[in-house]
Amino acid sequence: MRLDNATWREVEAALERMPGIILPVGSTEQHGPMGLIGTDAICAEKIAEAAAEKADCLVAPTIAYTPAPFNMAFAGTISISGETFEALFREIVDSLRTHGFRLIYVLNGHGANLDPMRDVSAGFEGATIRIRSWWDFDTVNVLRKRYYGDWEGMHATPSEIAITQATHRIVPPGDASDPPERLTPEYVARHSGDRHGPAELHRRRFPDGRVGSHSALARPEHGRDLLQAAAAAVSEDFTGALAQCG
Ligand code: NI
Repeated sequence: MRLDNATWREVEAALERMPGIILPVGSTEQHGPMGLIGTDAICAEKIAEAAAEKADCLVAPTIAYTPAPFNMAFAGTISISGETFEALFREIVDSLRTHGFRLIYVLNGHGANLDPMRDVSAGFEGATIRIRSWWDFDTVNVLRKRYYGDWEGMHATPSEIAITQATHRIVPPGDASDPPERLTPEYVARHSGDRHGPAELHRRRFPDGRVGSHSALARPEHGRDLLQAAAAAVSEDFTGALAQCG
């Protein structure tokens, strides 16, 4: 159940039964010619909701405003600074801890969120913050590999677009039917965790917003499979982590 759709009495009862909550974190940024601006937030939220149904736990409102400075040369991107995001994240997990949540399970959908969230969780006491991205799980990666191989790429990935096709809408690929420039392994290694350069440079380098990802390979049926695999893995991981919290 979503926290924002629950009453405070229902939250109090849920806490008695199960002191764990899933907190989805995404972004609001361009995702290539056929990817929705909310892709990262949508993926994290929909997987979190499906996982929460299996694990019978609450889902906090999604954090959708996060750092994406490298995408600011593309219309629609909203980026906040790392410091603002870190402060926002800290105050949200603080609030959850105050109410008695012992496990705050962060389901991430955007690489640039990881470092600031890890900074907060490192010194956090009184509750466990467990941070996982939805693509961390083996069962999800088997599917990504099988459907897209190396064309999964780094940004506007067919897997994330497939999930939004299953849950929201399908945008025709148009000129993105053609594959993007292939990335070298060196590029991928140097830029993991969204370590991209300044906005204007990033747009010049990747003019349609795809970073090595052949978005047009996305299919809604892949999205349903990816969502289910990720939800099952998150639910299992959440339940195991909660048991460890005692
Ligand atoms: Ni994304």
